[in-house]
Amino acid sequence: MNYSQRDFQHIWHPYTQMETDKYPFVITKAEGSLLFSDDDKSFIDAISSWWVNLHGHCHPEIGNAIARQYQSLDQIIFAGFSHPVAIEYAEDLVKILPENIQKIFYSDNGSTAVEVGLKMAVQYWHNKDVPKGKIIALENSYHGDTFGSMSVSQRGQFTLPFQEMLFDVEFLVSPAQNAGKCLEALEKHAQDKNTAAFIYEPLVQGAGGMLMYEPEILEQMLEICRRNNVVTIADEVMTGFGRTGKLFASNYCTISPDIICLSKGITGGVLPLAVTACSDKIYNAFLSSDRKKTFFHGHSYTGNALSIAAAKASLELLMNSQIKIDKINNSHQKFLGKLKVLGNVSHTRVRGTVLAFDVVDEENTSYFHPLRDQLNIAFLEAGVLLRPLGNTVYIMPPYCITEEELSYVYQTIEKVITNI
Ligand SMILES: Cc1ncc(COP(=O)(O)O)c(C=O)c1O
Repeated sequence: MNYSQRDFQHIWHPYTQMETDKYPFVITKAEGSLLFSDDDKSFIDAISSWWVNLHGHCHPEIGNAIARQYQSLDQIIFAGFSHPVAIEYAEDLVKILPENIQKIFYSDNGSTAVEVGLKMAVQYWHNKDVPKGKIIALENSYHGDTFGSMSVSQRGQFTLPFQEMLFDVEFLVSPAQNAGKCLEALEKHAQDKNTAAFIYEPLVQGAGGMLMYEPEILEQMLEICRRNNVVTIADEVMTGFGRTGKLFASNYCTISPDIICLSKGITGGVLPLAVTACSDKIYNAFLSSDRKKTFFHGHSYTGNALSIAAAKASLELLMNSQIKIDKINNSHQKFLGKLKVLGNVSHTRVRGTVLAFDVVDEENTSYFHPLRDQLNIAFLEAGVLLRPLGNTVYIMPPYCITEEELSYVYQTIEKVITNI
């Protein structure tokens, strides 16, 4: 048996129908934007391996930072103890996050960053003795796979088996689909005395189909929440660390959220880590001589020193990446022009390093669209990892992608779409 067949014996893969999906590609080496498989194939990683990779695979500076960290400290309990790299990284992050964000809570994945954000918001009101529990979220949102993050995500096939167990949420029409209606509904629900918090993906709703909306709309959404004293939670798990062209999507607005969830690109895509960052307004509501007001949340690996060492090295690289990010955006803008005149394509859109469009079906875009597998296979056969969301195709490359590699991705898309 080869590795791929052996994999099948014991491994249950995420988001994979193990009955019908093909054997996985087994990747034995990854470098820059490229993945190499054990059967001598190579792929351009045009979606940054589920949106995590920023500077290319196996970047030596991140590897060296992890190795250096391992010489002195690996992992320790993070309650009652701390360590230098966690402290230094928190200082670095606070400097670049919106000014009101002052406190950093570590965890290890995007769903958990969201759970922590929701719990912070709800307990904030509880600690202030104000009984509020209603959460507002957006249709087409995706915030993760744990119960709290599923509750605030678009309900559908992913959440159906658990429907009865998810808490009630007020869903607003997506601002990417009808900004006016979204703002109107937000105004109404924000005024409800029961409303505790509003959670949203700023500017780009990722897994919901790379739906994009304008900073002016986000600004108005934040203004409504501020005026009505609704805690705002920006889920920047995907949009953070340069994806939308600025360091954080929240930087496009003058009003800042109260809580920001970060993960994915935080370590440059090398080790798991997440941060839920919040303002002093939120944090101060947990300060008390009454221990019952403590934030009772934590995980065994909270504040992992190796992950944070990777994050620190990644952030240093990111601070020198603006030119690369702008270059990708310029190339995307040019390609958008070509896409627009191609048949079979609708809703072309770009924000920062993310380009997306829908194939053929203007009205019926869906994760389960029958075209999805056809597209996916055609891209992989051409050596490009794109993994469309149904009939929505998107590119979200690592910032290190070369001009030649990006051109090849564009050419492959043109070819595949033309041949449908
Ligand atoms: C906006 C957003 N929030 C949360 C998550 C969940 O992150 P994770 O897969 O690390 O749990 C994702 C993952 O795609 C995401 O895009």
